[in-house]
Amino acid sequence: MSIDLLRSLNSEKGGHIDPSASLTANVTLEPPCFVGKGASIGHRSKVGKYAFINADSIIYANVTMGRYCALGRFVEIGLASHPLDFLSTHHLTISKGPFVRDKDFESATKIPWQVHPETIIGNDVWIGAKACIVSGVTVGDGAVVAAGSVVTKDVPPYMIVGGNPAREIRSRFDKFIVERLLDLKWWDIPLNLINTLPFDDIQACIEKLAIIREDMGQESEEQQRER
Ligand SMILES: CC(C)(COP(=O)(O)OP(=O)(O)OC[C@H]1O[C@@H](n2cnc3c(N)ncnc32)[C@H](O)[C@@H]1OP(=O)(O)O)[C@@H](O)C(=O)NCCC(=O)NCCS
Repeated sequence: MSIDLLRSLNSEKGGHIDPSASLTANVTLEPPCFVGKGASIGHRSKVGKYAFINADSIIYANVTMGRYCALGRFVEIGLASHPLDFLSTHHLTISKGPFVRDKDFESATKIPWQVHPETIIGNDVWIGAKACIVSGVTVGDGAVVAAGSVVTKDVPPYMIVGGNPAREIRSRFDKFIVERLLDLKWWDIPLNLINTLPFDDIQACIEKLAIIREDMGQESEEQQRER
């Protein structure tokens, strides 16, 4: 899909992509999404619906982000990885990238290297301002990354992490609630049903979600498609 088409489809569905935001080829957005001023989304990255990508944040290549994620300003996700044990960590050894018009640079043997291994951000993840998440990590559903953190390792679901390097601060909920939430996956339920939940009472939400899931299970495939 062309980037212009993606922008207009997102807008039709109630999203917003700032005119100064940059979306590279092969980006997939599930509309609606909000992409703020100066934000960018790199090659082959995928962003789930209701993502709030605040101004000047960068989602690099090969990032998969779930639904209902919220990013503060100046967040960077999927920071590139350079080889640490080659002669040089510089692009020279791995890519023509920045100097395609320089014959000597271009002719240097390039060793195959994955600059952006896949980074996975789950659903309902809140990432505080100026946080950096290196490529190749997985941040679980429901996790929180504190402002200014540098995430270098996988983050378990519903865990709050912070600092440089980011360490576990605490879980948002006890393990029984986390297990139920991971099972019920509220982010996959139609929004009109999510809206009936008492958001600030997690136990009541779980009980109601279980009933919604059961009712949905009894719907025919055709009824589910109509939602
Ligand atoms: C993480 C956050 C949500 C607070 O969570 P919390 O569980 O209420 O944390 P508390 O304030 O009780 O602090 C718990 C511990 O985490 C530490 N902590 C809190 N924020 C931190 C941060 N940004 N970096 C490192 N450590 C942090 C506290 O110092 C405290 O450490 P201690 O136990 O050693 O004293 C909040 O600090 C934060 O970063 N919010 C993001 C705000 C933001 O960026 N908003 C804009 C985007 S929409």
